[in-house]
Amino acid sequence: MVLIAHISDFHIGSISFQEELLLQSIDTINDIAPDVTIITGDLTENGYYMEMEKAAGYIENIKSPLMIVPGNHDARHVGDQCFRELIRDRYGTLQILNGLENGLKIMGLDSSEPDLNYGKVGRAQQAWMEEQLDDATKNGMYKIIALHHHIIPVPRTGRERNVLSDAGDILYSIISKNADLVLSGHKHVPHVWMVQNTAFATAGTVSSLKLRGKDPASFNTVNIDDDYIEILLNSADGKTNCLAKYENRCR
Ligand SMILES: [Fe+2]
Ligand SMILES: [Fe+2]
Repeated sequence: MVLIAHISDFHIGSISFQEELLLQSIDTINDIAPDVTIITGDLTENGYYMEMEKAAGYIENIKSPLMIVPGNHDARHVGDQCFRELIRDRYGTLQILNGLENGLKIMGLDSSEPDLNYGKVGRAQQAWMEEQLDDATKNGMYKIIALHHHIIPVPRTGRERNVLSDAGDILYSIISKNADLVLSGHKHVPHVWMVQNTAFATAGTVSSLKLRGKDPASFNTVNIDDDYIEILLNSADGKTNCLAKYENRCR
């Protein structure tokens, strides 16, 4: 079995950032000891160097291996350069070899564009992702894509504006190359779509009050068992709800 923590949208530097929510979530994540924690962007509100330094300080306390990609807010004010200096490369892969027969491979994509809100993966990264997916398939690995922007519109988010501008092309690559799971953030609305054999899970905001209605801050966890996969919503009020449970067809 593999356990994944998926957290997103810290928004450090925003007046709606709540430090206690982030610290509480990091404590919970360290307690459940996931095999990997995936952070899908918007660590900061403005991409400022000092905000990115603070983000790096919080992230340092997460004990599991990490995959981190930037969001649109992190790419403001040359934040994309600060991200690279203080956090890590904006895209790349991480392999987790324990817990599943052939392990899992996480491919992190940078969907941000400097000073813009909209998202794009682009042809070069798309080709790179396809190569990585082929390689993972060859090795029988479970395949996860992590990126900030959603590829499929999310319910309860009003008029669609920020789905990837190359969503059709990226969706085609993901489905035709049989990625198992796609994780994103951005809209602060937790949701799961299933498209053929691929699950698309968006996480809420873990530590800001940029929320809809009475939604609490939250993060997702993913349990990958031999027989089934379960995606859970972990709310800041301590409640846990199942977002999706489906058969593991990757075996
Ligand atoms: Fe956000
Ligand atoms: Fe965002």
